[in-house]
Amino acid sequence: MKNIYSNIIKFSKKNLSKALKYLKRNRVIGLPTETVYGLAGNAYSSQAIKKIYKLKGRPRINPLIVHYYDLSRIQEDVVIKDDFLKLYKAFCPGPLTFILKRKKSSKIYKLACSNLPTVGIRFPKHRVAKKILKKLNFPLAMPSANKSNAVSPVTSFDVAEEFKKKIKLIINGGRSKIGIESTVINLVNKPTILRPGAISKKEIGRILKKKVFINTNSKKINSPGMLKKHYSPNIPMILDKKRVGKNHAFITFGKKYKKSKNTFNLSENSDLKIAAKNLYKTFRLIKKMKYKKIYVAKIPNIGIGVAINDRLKRAAGKR
Ligand code: TXA
Ligand code: MG
Repeated sequence: MKNIYSNIIKFSKKNLSKALKYLKRNRVIGLPTETVYGLAGNAYSSQAIKKIYKLKGRPRINPLIVHYYDLSRIQEDVVIKDDFLKLYKAFCPGPLTFILKRKKSSKIYKLACSNLPTVGIRFPKHRVAKKILKKLNFPLAMPSANKSNAVSPVTSFDVAEEFKKKIKLIINGGRSKIGIESTVINLVNKPTILRPGAISKKEIGRILKKKVFINTNSKKINSPGMLKKHYSPNIPMILDKKRVGKNHAFITFGKKYKKSKNTFNLSENSDLKIAAKNLYKTFRLIKKMKYKKIYVAKIPNIGIGVAINDRLKRAAGKR
């Protein structure tokens, strides 16, 4: 794809120092992660955090995830638990966010956590995010780099399109491998999944050897971000459809659907990981093609399929 955006830069040694300079000056930049692209800023800085909320148009009751390179820096910010360490060992760096109790000594700017007594922390796996975090002496608050309620970006071009010149720097780290946001698990009390993602309840249960609960109900505001109409392309969407007329877009999965101009197959080989990777790209494409309605075929509700169905339900305003 031709780079028509002057604020997108490739990852090089020179650009790495440029990015670090921006972050140290408490400016906000776009960064790739393995899940989706993020809007990154110094988690300790009031200026950076306020800027993130402003750029996203995000309600201040919706906390941000704070990203770290590894365990070395988290002691200052959160209360560490056994369950956390077990999951860290099994899945990190990777697409898993932990909600833990905040320590009084923490320097994280309180608005980053919406003044809650907890902090969401994550250790991204993407080489660009890792290289940058390793060189900083503060963690990065990093929500997905989209306006509040819109579809998360999976390429640097998606970020540039969303914010135009409002962000001065976006590092191009290729298309996000996973394509859907991290699993969020609250470990403050009983382990409870607040947002499904690439790491499933079953995988987490296998490591913790105990029951894992699910609470993705937006009415119980445990994760205020899980609001209705999140992750939405803002086009009416109807789920569990078997067929479609020629005027609406049809998102399908697997071999049994005929190919046509208005059919968008997430994975012809019925591979749920590929479907997750294609989901937001497909939302964007359909929006660009100016369809007025989207029908969606049934997607198996197993593994990462649970996360796909969660995002589809939210996009359809059903959760
Ligand atoms: O994959 C990801 O997690 C991406 C990449 C960039 O790391 N980030 C991301 O951030 O999806 P965001 O801000 O779009 O979503 C964060 C979610 C929200 O649902 C928010 O409510 C929840 O995490 N969250 C963050 N801190 C929380 C806390 N202290 N308690 C409950 N939920 C929290
Ligand atoms: Mg988001």
